[in-house]
Amino acid sequence: MIKRCLFPAAGYGTRFLPATKAMPKEMLPILTKPLIQYGVEEAMEAGCDIMAIITGRGKRAITDHFDISYELEHQIQGSSKESMLTDIRNIIDKCTFTYTRQNEMKGLGDAIYKGKVLVGSSAPFAVVLADDLCVNPDGDGILTQMVKLYEKYKCCIVATMEVPKEEVHKYGVIEGKAMEDGVFMVSNMIEKPDNDKAPSNLAVIGRYILTPDIFEMIQNTKPGKNGELQITDALCSQAKKGMVLAYKFKGKRFDCGSVDGFVEATNYFYELEKKKEE
Ligand code: UTP
Repeated sequence: MIKRCLFPAAGYGTRFLPATKAMPKEMLPILTKPLIQYGVEEAMEAGCDIMAIITGRGKRAITDHFDISYELEHQIQGSSKESMLTDIRNIIDKCTFTYTRQNEMKGLGDAIYKGKVLVGSSAPFAVVLADDLCVNPDGDGILTQMVKLYEKYKCCIVATMEVPKEEVHKYGVIEGKAMEDGVFMVSNMIEKPDNDKAPSNLAVIGRYILTPDIFEMIQNTKPGKNGELQITDALCSQAKKGMVLAYKFKGKRFDCGSVDGFVEATNYFYELEKKKEE
């Protein structure tokens, strides 16, 4: 069973300035729910109940969000607004939240390595990048799909999706051999390749299942693209030494780290809510 989920959330969210000057990007709301809460709910659905969050300076709102606000509880007790806190109360009841800080933005690989003290080195864990908002209206959430796949193969898994060839330079891109429908054995991974040098158009998005030996791989990885410690490079070493799978998930992903994706997600959830009301 995968019980722990790591949320690297130390980034500055510069694409959302000035909104993210004093507020974490992960707390930007899609309708009334902050991005990171969508991620936590997806992790809970997949069976996780320990949420390990990598924060940084100016991110205290995340810690406060996953805690009880006694004044607020008192204020709205018995009012019609109480139901608006049902979901977050349920999360706080069922999950344990742990935190550590990444003091310097040295890359996603470094952020995940910082999480070792939180997730330990004896069991596999999930990783969710909250700015990738994923939904699957037709069935299991993306992380649940990946956990099921993990139970079969017991190795690191990255979520991937096909992107247009001219957009591959924004992603980690995999090269691999098809094993079964939507599952590829990774032979190579490149972080943000030039469009004409990408090995495929299968791009890695912000969902991972990692086995604890990834920490050793990260330790032995040198800074890569943009001078940052890239999880893509550590996973590439892992793929060459052992086994890493790329999974073409079922569902939809919104890149809420970009303004376009954020607006798209807002419209999607707004339409969904409107349909529910009808
Ligand atoms: P991004 O590069 O998309 O996030 O990293 P960012 O840097 O906050 O965004 P911009 O480009 O400035 O707008 C993807 C995810 O990895 C985390 C980020 O918080 C984000 O969730 N991350 C990245 C870290 O926690 N630490 C790092 O050193 C790098």
